[in-house]
Amino acid sequence: MIHAYRAELLSVAHDPRDAGPEAVRHEPDGLLVVKDGVVVARGAFETLAPQFAEVEVEHLPGLVVPGFVDAHVHYPQTDRIASYGEQLLDWLDKHIFPAEKAFVDKVHADEVAAFFLGELLKNGTTSALVYPTVHEQSVDALFEAALERRMRIVSGKVLMDLGPDGLNDTVASGRAASEALIRRWRGRGRLGYAVTPRFALASSDAQLADAGALLAEHPEVLMHTHLAENVHEVAAVAARFPDAADYLDAYDRFGLVTPRSVFAHGIHLPERSCARLHESGAGIAVCPSSNLFLGSGHFNFGQADRHRLRLGLGTDVGAGTSFSMLRTAGLAYQAALAREDRLNPFRALYLATAGSAALLHIEDRVGALEAGQEADFVVLDCASTPLLARRTAGADLATRLFALQILGDERAIARTYVMGECAWKRTP
Ligand code: GUN
Ligand code: ZN
Repeated sequence: MIHAYRAELLSVAHDPRDAGPEAVRHEPDGLLVVKDGVVVARGAFETLAPQFAEVEVEHLPGLVVPGFVDAHVHYPQTDRIASYGEQLLDWLDKHIFPAEKAFVDKVHADEVAAFFLGELLKNGTTSALVYPTVHEQSVDALFEAALERRMRIVSGKVLMDLGPDGLNDTVASGRAASEALIRRWRGRGRLGYAVTPRFALASSDAQLADAGALLAEHPEVLMHTHLAENVHEVAAVAARFPDAADYLDAYDRFGLVTPRSVFAHGIHLPERSCARLHESGAGIAVCPSSNLFLGSGHFNFGQADRHRLRLGLGTDVGAGTSFSMLRTAGLAYQAALAREDRLNPFRALYLATAGSAALLHIEDRVGALEAGQEADFVVLDCASTPLLARRTAGADLATRLFALQILGDERAIARTYVMGECAWKRTP
């Protein structure tokens, strides 16, 4: 089945930091041709249309960009978004751990997973790297719901043998559940697995070592965890691992720092960590709304860029305050500026799409809307609110894109397509 869409098309396949302005691909009047869920051609309407003269063309009113890729988000925290009053460690104890205990119930997990994926689609997010809970069935609930919606989701049972009562596993049970999930879900739909130790403080040395061993046995999976988010957390890690050179080293000694490792946050990183992240090829999911909400600090783009770190963008809901990757991009700009760095809107779009996809090792499949990629895309509406309409009227592309990031939210998502099918459409 072939579909052709005529629209303004925009994508950023490579980091403009490294690739320069060539990274931006823009067809003001473009044609996107999709066959069986995959992009088979993309180009200027005028040049491409004659080749597809027999295909009916649908006009999409809006700016079409690749489906967003959320590089770090917690689905079980959906109902604890906007929980008042604490920084990271107290926030986990007071608000998050009690909520995550409820995911022992598969029916509850199913209900939250369905709502969560609906929120992603509504916000234009078609792929994500997702934390579930310590419970094996919390992964099943998410993967089953993602399979139904044909979304590209990477997740893996949280490992936390030092977690609170009702929310801990053991080295053996964590290993057994992880292996069962890897076996059960391998090759199904668009799903992928990530070995997911919660963070250094929640796992014993034995469990961190076992996570490293599991990773080494399964070269196709990712490693996903948190790193250097909060000053009190960093101090506790230093106390727990007195021999480690820094927080990253506490993971490194167990084989957890690899090109397939995704670390959320990375706010408080010494130069040594950055050098090691670069050398290893590991990536950072930058989570600005979360960092602001929990008072964690601002990501240091200047330092990351000096070390040429691989970066993506994550909402980190429930510490993050929005599922919108547009809003998250806008907050990344503000976090950068707070440290006197600039994040231009094309680079922000890269981070929200192909950059995050590269962290998840799915950049050959999604993130740039190139021929051969899966046809996940979003139709952005610059007139979704009267204010946005006024600010973008007659404006150039950079101005419109920046306004969408600063002023836009889920209302700016007119439609979300997954594998070439409309998965969400805003009602007028
Ligand atoms: N560090 C360990 N667990 C968490 C979590 O659930 N959220 C955030 N933001 N940081 C963490
Ligand atoms: Zn997180």
